[in-house]
Amino acid sequence: MHCTTRITDTVVWVGGSDRRLALFENLFPVPRGVAYNAYLIMDEKTALVDTVDASITGQFMDNVTHTLEGRPLDYLVVNHMEPDHCANIEALMLRFPNLKVVGNVKTLALIGQFYDMELKGRTLTVSEGEELSLGSRTLRFYFAPMVHWPEVMMTYDTREKILFSADAFGSFGALGGNLFNDEVDFDRDWLADARRYYGNIVGKYGPQVQAALKKVGGLEIRMICPLHGPVWRSSISYLLEKYNRWSLYQPEERAVAVMYGSMYGNTENAAQILAAELAQRGVKNTAVYDVSGTHVSYLIGEVFRCSHLVLAAPTYNNGIYPAMLNLLHDMKALNLQNRTVGIIENGSWMPVSGARMRAVLEEMKDMSVLEPVVTLKSSVKEDSLGRLKALADALTQSLTV
Ligand code: FEO
Repeated sequence: MHCTTRITDTVVWVGGSDRRLALFENLFPVPRGVAYNAYLIMDEKTALVDTVDASITGQFMDNVTHTLEGRPLDYLVVNHMEPDHCANIEALMLRFPNLKVVGNVKTLALIGQFYDMELKGRTLTVSEGEELSLGSRTLRFYFAPMVHWPEVMMTYDTREKILFSADAFGSFGALGGNLFNDEVDFDRDWLADARRYYGNIVGKYGPQVQAALKKVGGLEIRMICPLHGPVWRSSISYLLEKYNRWSLYQPEERAVAVMYGSMYGNTENAAQILAAELAQRGVKNTAVYDVSGTHVSYLIGEVFRCSHLVLAAPTYNNGIYPAMLNLLHDMKALNLQNRTVGIIENGSWMPVSGARMRAVLEEMKDMSVLEPVVTLKSSVKEDSLGRLKALADALTQSLTV
């Protein structure tokens, strides 16, 4: 049975949610599920903006068929050719023999790479800024290459002032009836997952996000319709500010995230002592994570949020403890920049993890390492306790600058 939400008189959300999926991209935990949004525009011509993942094809097809009320589907705009949004192109082409698939040159090439469908005579290739009339409105196409795939484009409804933004402005998390941002407590229930989605999926492409923001920045935008998560019909400037900050690699908060790896609890002990010392100096809202027990995607969300990081890790195989190495590798791969970092290393006979962590940080942009680096030889003793206190002083001072 159909389950749709009307966005305006003539635009209908025809997507759905998947709460059974454990790992998005077979990589990222989604305990709150994930929504796949698609939008059907009913004008003199009908146009569907993107499709959905194969996991909810049945729901999606019911939604589209019900909304069309027997009318044919004239256009399918493909803003993004990743399979979580384009799994139903062929099924729609078979059901609607006059349907034209709208995309750019790169979109159409990717369709050929992923699928074996006959596209001859069934496509409409658009270029940057080109418009497509649906009758009472036109759709205008803005390319957003590498946000986060090369073919990505955004579609602007010039009458309704709606920006269909592809993955940009999306979030992990299934939708529960409340489709719009002003129907949920976004800061409480969605912001962390929106940040985690941004950091892990789009985070590497800050300059490209900046370019896209500039491109659509001059538009009058009444609503932003992303491919995942809530639809934005208010507080648009709040959302744009978050994206501007994240894509400039500016932290959202002056706060400390302590991330430690610990084999037998001794490095953990140092991390806890440091966090307690920070609290004694008046530092609030310090976040502490065990990198072995926290999926790295959550840690990435936190490094995008916090201005200050503390990385604490044992030496392992003459290098960095693997779970910490994995985090550092992700931070570097995602182009994270502009953070202040404290380092705690541990090593029972030859501690080198501190130097190794510093070396990775030096390969990143604008990462400054605080002194002192704290060295533990197996466990915290009086000398290392003094250095932990000195690091707490340095962090506290740096936070107030
Ligand atoms: Fe939601 Fe890039 O796919």
